[in-house]
Amino acid sequence: MNITIVGPGAIGSLWASYLHDAGHKISLWSRHKDDTLTIQRDSYPALSLANNDTQALKSADVILVTLKAPLVSSVLHQIKPHIDVDAIIILMHNGMGTAESVMTLMPENPLVLATTTHGAYRPSATQVLHTGQGQTLLGAVNDKALQCSFLAEVFHHALSDVAWHANIRQALWNKLAVNCAINPLTAIHQVRNGELARSEFRAQLDAIIDEVCHVMEAEEIAVDKAKLTVLIDQVIHSTSNNFSSMEQDIAHQRSSEIDFITGYLLQCASNHGIDVPTNQALYKAIKQIEQSW
Ligand code: PAF
Repeated sequence: MNITIVGPGAIGSLWASYLHDAGHKISLWSRHKDDTLTIQRDSYPALSLANNDTQALKSADVILVTLKAPLVSSVLHQIKPHIDVDAIIILMHNGMGTAESVMTLMPENPLVLATTTHGAYRPSATQVLHTGQGQTLLGAVNDKALQCSFLAEVFHHALSDVAWHANIRQALWNKLAVNCAINPLTAIHQVRNGELARSEFRAQLDAIIDEVCHVMEAEEIAVDKAKLTVLIDQVIHSTSNNFSSMEQDIAHQRSSEIDFITGYLLQCASNHGIDVPTNQALYKAIKQIEQSW
């Protein structure tokens, strides 16, 4: 397939490399001006891939958008004139809330949402390290995308495990819950994920999870607080040495994804008239840090 990766950061570069090795024709779209970009995964030979090639974008069957959530709408708005109406758009990022604006912007295109637990790290602009095996789930957002379940097989062949999820919102809400619990706390305290296993964070984590469960129930998403707590504790444990993406953003004074993580939760809570004071306080704390720069 012809696949364009929009926003080749760590996860985008990882998929670019694996999809290329599986035989697909890969091009990139990035903020860099160069006509080609190099991606070298682990110790495999470096690849040279076309960058910002409008012809490649026009002929893309699949557009895998791995931009951070805050950039999705503006970048897709910019490149929309070069995107075929039949191209399948896949959004893969932390947080929720972008699908609504992409559906308004590109109502004709099949729209798929993805969530992945693979670990990837970019020690330099050309290198990507696959730091942890994970699972990727894909699912349809609009009716046109209901015919796209074959993508699970295509992506699985490149980088397993990949499954098609009949209710991708369920999977995304579980990931949102993980991000609501881990990201703001690690960013505010500037600690690795594993530090959250310390007893001093327990009460706060429980309060976050409790509030997220109320909102999930109101959104008619199946949720079990005990199971969600186990999932979050498992992620804290399995990623204990990692700095979360929000910790990194705050450490480097980059604006974070808070509006699409805790901010999305607050928006849903307000739609249902639910009080979420713990998450509200974390949201405010991150915003205050961002505004202090
Ligand atoms: O945003 C992140 O860093 C990741 O989604 C997660 C799962 C919290 C691990 O660091």
